[in-house]
Parts: sequence; C-alpha cells; structure tokens
Amino acid sequence: MDDFIYRGRAGEGLENTGNDAGARQPVVRGRSTGSAGEELFCEGVPLSRIAREVGTPVYVYSYNTLTRHFKVFDEAFDGIPHVICFAMKANSNIAVVKAFSALGGGADVVSGGELFRALKAGVEPSKIVYAGVGKTEREIEAALTAGILMFNIESQEELLAIDGVAGRLGVKALIALRVNPDVDAKTHPYISTGLKKNKFGVSIEQAMDEYERAEALPNVKVVGIHQHIGSQLTEISPFVDSLKKTAELARRLKSKGFGIKYIDVGGGLGIRYLNEKPPLPSELARAIRPVLEDLGCTLVFEPGRVLAGNAGCLVTKVLYRKSTAEKNFIIVDAGMNDLVRPTLYQAYHEIKQVVPTDAPEFSADVVGPICETGDFLAKDRAMRVPQPGEFLAVMSAGAYGFTMSSNYNSRPRAAEVMVDGDGYYIIRRREDYEDLVSGEEIPEFLEEKAARDA
Ligand code: LLP
Repeated sequence: MDDFIYRGRAGEGLENTGNDAGARQPVVRGRSTGSAGEELFCEGVPLSRIAREVGTPVYVYSYNTLTRHFKVFDEAFDGIPHVICFAMKANSNIAVVKAFSALGGGADVVSGGELFRALKAGVEPSKIVYAGVGKTEREIEAALTAGILMFNIESQEELLAIDGVAGRLGVKALIALRVNPDVDAKTHPYISTGLKKNKFGVSIEQAMDEYERAEALPNVKVVGIHQHIGSQLTEISPFVDSLKKTAELARRLKSKGFGIKYIDVGGGLGIRYLNEKPPLPSELARAIRPVLEDLGCTLVFEPGRVLAGNAGCLVTKVLYRKSTAEKNFIIVDAGMNDLVRPTLYQAYHEIKQVVPTDAPEFSADVVGPICETGDFLAKDRAMRVPQPGEFLAVMSAGAYGFTMSSNYNSRPRAAEVMVDGDGYYIIRRREDYEDLVSGEEIPEFLEEKAARDA
C-alpha cells in the first residue's frame, strides 16, 4: 500500500510504507504507523479531506497502486503469451475495470451483470472469460453475442445449455472445462475451491471423458483448460501442484488432437493483511513457468485481490464510544453491510487513525451501527482511544469490500473515490434514500385496503 502513507501535515512528505503484499516494490521507506502531527494520505490527497468533502463511509482507491499492481503482475510473465483477466468480483466499479483495461487487461466475469460492466468499461470481448456454476441462458446468450474469449464450464448440464444457446444463435461457443485438481489451497474453507468436496469444476479424472463429450457437440469448440483452486493463497506449492496436474491433462488432450490454446490458471494469489508473506507475482511466475512453458499455450490469469486489495481502504467516522464491564466499543459509521469480510471470514483488516494522535492506547471492538452482534470491523484491537468525529481507515479493503456490500438495515451504500496524484474523483456517488426504494412499489390493492380500513 505504498500509496497510503502518513505524511507531515505541513507537507514534509514521508515516503513509501511498502506493505502492499503481492506487488511489493523494491524501494521501501517511510512508515505505516503515523505519529501526531502527520496524517494519512492516499497518493497526494489527505484522506481527511475526502472524508470531509464526500462524507463517510467512503471507499478510496489509489489509481497509482492499482495500475502498478497490474504492471508488476504483467511484467512477471514477460516473454510468455498471456492475458490478465481481472476478477471483477473483487472490485467491479467500472472506473477500476477501466484502469486495467486501458493497460491491456481483460476481465474474468461470473454473471451477466459483470459482463455488462466489463463491456461498459471498454474491456475487449476477446479478453473476457466467463466462469461460475450457474450461468443462465440469458447470460450465456449475452456472452455469445458479445463474442467473449471463452466460457469456463463447470458441469455437463451447463455445457449442454451453452451448446443449445449457441446453436440457436448460429455461433460456436469457445469453451474451457474447469478442472478440479483436488489440491488443498490451504486457505479459509469458504474460499477454497479446488478440493473434491467443493462444488466447482469437473474432477480431473473425469475430465478426459468430459472433453470428448464436449468435442462431440455441434456448437461448442474446445479451446482451453481452466482451474482456480482458491483465494488468498500465501504459498506457492498449491499453484505448482495443481498446475502440474492441469499441464499433464493438457498434454494428453493435445496428443489426442484437442486444440488447447489457453491454460487459465485462475486467480488466488494472496496479499498481506497483517503479517502474511504471500509470494510476489515474480516468484509465482518463476515457479510455474517451467510447468507450463513447453505447452505452447497462452496463459490466462484471473487475479482479483492481488491487484485491488491493497489499493483501497474504507474510511469511516467514529460516532460513539462505550465501555461495558467486559469490553470497550468504538462505534463507527461503517458496518458489516459496508465491509462483511471481518464477520464472514474472521478476516483481519488493519485500522489506522487518519489523523494520528497521542491519546492513550486501549483495546476495543470496532463495531458498526447494524443490529447484529456480528457487526464488527475488528475485535479486541489495540488502538489509540479515538474521539467521536475522528476518521479511521480500514485498510486492505480494495478487494471484496464494496462488491460484497449490501443495503442491510436500509443503509445506503458507500461512495467510492479514485485518487490520482493530487486529485480525486467520485467514481460512485453515495446512495440516497430514494435509491433504497427505487424499483419498489406498493400495489394498488394495498392502498385501497388501507383507505377502506382507515
Ligand atoms: N477466478 C475465479 C474463478 C474465482 O472464483 C475467483 C475468486 C478469482 C478468479 C479471483 O480470486 P482472487 O485472485 O481474488 O483470490 N469474498 C472472498 C473471496 C472469494 C473469492 C471467490 N473467487 C474474500 O473476501 O476473501
């Protein structure tokens, strides 16, 4: 997160903190913890300014970090034909997607909605891959009409559905089968996808039969193999172990005459939230090159978190403090509807004072306004006692932050801002109350009943 740094308020400008995990840069200076007299900036803009002018809660993304992460990933695979299809589920704001597509990036989509966003953001259809176990006919039709690179198929019934739609439209659907290599990704069980017991893909043992069945269909053309074994991987071995199996399958398929042009490696490279030490993209590249290089295929990557996670934070305001016999609570204006990761996965997100103080330290739960015990952003966190009105930044929130947010408790969703140098841009306005009810309707019979019963 080199672009989220504390600087002296007079502008003496401390430099990089260098804790941006997957895409660490060689030059690492400055500090990630601030002291009184400094404040937290995103690039050249103080977060307090954005919080004051746009309001809170607000997601703030650094354009510079997003694009640097993309380039670091891209350069790691220099010399091998490859496409980087940003996993839009991590962050689907069209401005974020545009930042990547402008650098030649594609998109990994999992719904008609993400496809719509990708096209709106100017992603070339020939760089869009489409995964997910439950594609509907309508979604399949939209993707075929757009002319995407390939469908990553998760089941035989889905394959038949795609064949059917393609036949109706008079086109050939380009496909890869998602294979499940039965490798333990060693990550949180909810985000581990490459084990036999998971719902994803077809087992690698059955894959050959499935490929033969696919090839026999009239409106489908086999072009690749897809795998994705999980998310927030912090070790290289699961990538290597699974890709060895996938490469072996690719070799067998090729020897039988299948036109395997693409190996889709999936996403999953982890980032540093606290003290994880995930491999750098260059380390991943070094490990998997020898496994895949001789296949002569174009590699497709679907990174999400590693590109966006540490490029964003969620800025929230302290509303109240309260202490019980058991605990201290800091009540802030962002809740689990804004950032669900802490409660859903017991995920750790660092919380920083936007304007550091030298208030005494204590331990507190940072909680939101939602009526659920699970509504917390941090538990038993050591922090300086903040004042009401103070801004806190919840770090590493650029991936699976806004995209997983909801309107629960009828809370309008947060605004999103992109910073570029000394300027910032609202890339999604804060929702208002009218947004909450737009699309809802009170049927006439209820109005009539109410009038009658009144
Ligand atoms: N490709 C496929 C087929 C996927 O299912 C995913 C993530 C990705 C790529 C991108 O994975 P990444 O590079 O971001 O690890 N909501 C969870 C993460 C769920 C990931 C689901 N699939 C979280 O907040 O940790």
